[in-house]
Amino acid sequence: MDLFDKLKELRQKGLEEIKKASDEKKLNDVRVELVGKKGELTKILHSMREVAPEDRRKVGQKVNELRDLFNNQLDESKKKLVAVLIAKKMEEERVDVTLPGRKQAVGSKHPIYVILDDLEKYFIGMGYKVVQGPEIETDHYCFEMMNLPKDHPARDMQATFYIDGEDLLRTQTSGDQARVLEKHDFSKGPLKMVGPGKVYRRDDDDATHSHQFMQMEGLVVDKNVTMSDLKGTLELIAKHVFGQDRETRLRPSYFPFTEPSVEMDVSCFNCDGKGCPICKYTGWIEVLGAGMVHPNVLENAGIDSKTYGGFAFGLGLDRFAILKYGIDDIRDFYTNDVRFLRQFRKEED
Ligand code: PHE
Repeated sequence: MDLFDKLKELRQKGLEEIKKASDEKKLNDVRVELVGKKGELTKILHSMREVAPEDRRKVGQKVNELRDLFNNQLDESKKKLVAVLIAKKMEEERVDVTLPGRKQAVGSKHPIYVILDDLEKYFIGMGYKVVQGPEIETDHYCFEMMNLPKDHPARDMQATFYIDGEDLLRTQTSGDQARVLEKHDFSKGPLKMVGPGKVYRRDDDDATHSHQFMQMEGLVVDKNVTMSDLKGTLELIAKHVFGQDRETRLRPSYFPFTEPSVEMDVSCFNCDGKGCPICKYTGWIEVLGAGMVHPNVLENAGIDSKTYGGFAFGLGLDRFAILKYGIDDIRDFYTNDVRFLRQFRKEED
């Protein structure tokens, strides 16, 4: 068989094989076999010796033509195979846009955080900074720095979860006062801070007692801070949270880190002071403790108590939420029943 016949045969065979190749791998095998370095066309070129010299140019031309043809067909075929593959994939991965979507369950802000976030904003608006102390606090900051040395009887006011001799779950956020007092640079201006957070006391849980609750500490220290500044601030808080119509009163009290110390009552929002079960028929509800910062607390933090003075307050956020929303069991705050939590969705900002 002469080379022209061989070429004719190869053309037919090659085109058929290209047509038959049903996937990219097979098509590639065919490509190697036909136009590859050791493929059929190369073989024919190698056997040029057998061709009469006058025919060599023609054979060369034919080989080139055939290579072009094969390459074209191989490319075409590959395009088709890829198109089929994509079409198949699209079909398989088709999204039914008419299916109903998955609903995202939207949570709601915890009622205590509704009040906390709102109060934070309110204080930030008055130039306070917000600090956050550690929940595992040292005896040093929780008590000693706050004028409660180891044998002080007032320690009994707060039953404590000690972790070891020195570390404890903080019973109050007042330790935050000592922490910021130590760091504050008075050359940069007065100290005004609020410190919200969880506190813990050993207690038997019932409707009105919880071994964990939330407080917000407040501290203002500067030159010439007076008790009337404290009074004005507390009144602002009470009216902001419980309504502009509320009256407030201060009663003398005792805290080791303030002198004098007070407790603030607000007029009962339920009976407007006439007397009802919520205010236990007194017309008043106790909402927070406060006082003028005890000089020892300032001196403990290295501050001259003759030059600087201030006021501090500590409010129970659970108590605020209980009073504001009429919640009858403090444990509801910590048991994560979504039916309870959902009721506060409307309160979110
Ligand atoms: N730490 C006090 C308590 O937990 C509250 C308080 C804070 C009182 C700051 C006065 C000043 O009862």
